[in-house]
Amino acid sequence: MLPPRIFYKYAPELHNGCETQVGVPVAVQLLGSDPVQMGRHGAKAVELGATQVDINFGCPAKTVNKHKGGCVLMREPELMQQITEAVRAAVPAHVPVTAKMRLGYDDRSMGVACGQALEAAGASEIVVHARSKVDGYKPPAYWEDVARVREAVNAHVIANGEIWTVADYWRCREVSGCDDVMIGRG
Ligand SMILES: Cc1cc2nc3c(=O)[nH]c(=O)nc-3n(C[C@H](O)[C@H](O)[C@H](O)COP(=O)(O)O)c2cc1C
Repeated sequence: MLPPRIFYKYAPELHNGCETQVGVPVAVQLLGSDPVQMGRHGAKAVELGATQVDINFGCPAKTVNKHKGGCVLMREPELMQQITEAVRAAVPAHVPVTAKMRLGYDDRSMGVACGQALEAAGASEIVVHARSKVDGYKPPAYWEDVARVREAVNAHVIANGEIWTVADYWRCREVSGCDDVMIGRG
């Protein structure tokens, strides 16, 4: 188990009702591939004050993927489901468990299967970064593929990727059909 000081280091908002100083709610995000450990850490995050636990299935970093964390898990929707189920089971029912993913690792073909796996596991919200791992951070973002995920699941799907301007925001909403978007670098 990571000790509490590590949770507080990366999520200092835990000291503040899990909000930023101006009151923006913050989710604690976990990254890993062992369902049991992920469940334990989800429960610990909530014990320390987390009001939402998010799981990272989108990180493209080599070191992270080499250790089977982040986007490489999109090659194995069954394992994504087991991880998410374990976190969902370990976290009190009133705390949302959510996930962040891309559209796939090698290509953009895994979004629907992975979105369905997350939904089956009880994720209530899925942020989809509209690229594969291989796409990296290169424009464009494939918002039309986010629409396919949104159409395939009942969970709340949030579109992400290449939203830099208000015009991008409106175009992303239109193409993805998502009412909500996530902004990273912008
Ligand atoms: C330096 C950097 C660090 C990131 N760290 C995380 C992270 O810890 N968790 C996560 O879900 N996404 C992380 N992302 C991905 C962003 O959340 C987002 O999906 C990506 O940047 C695409 O959105 P954008 O085009 O609006 O930036 C990171 C991105 C960058 C550039």
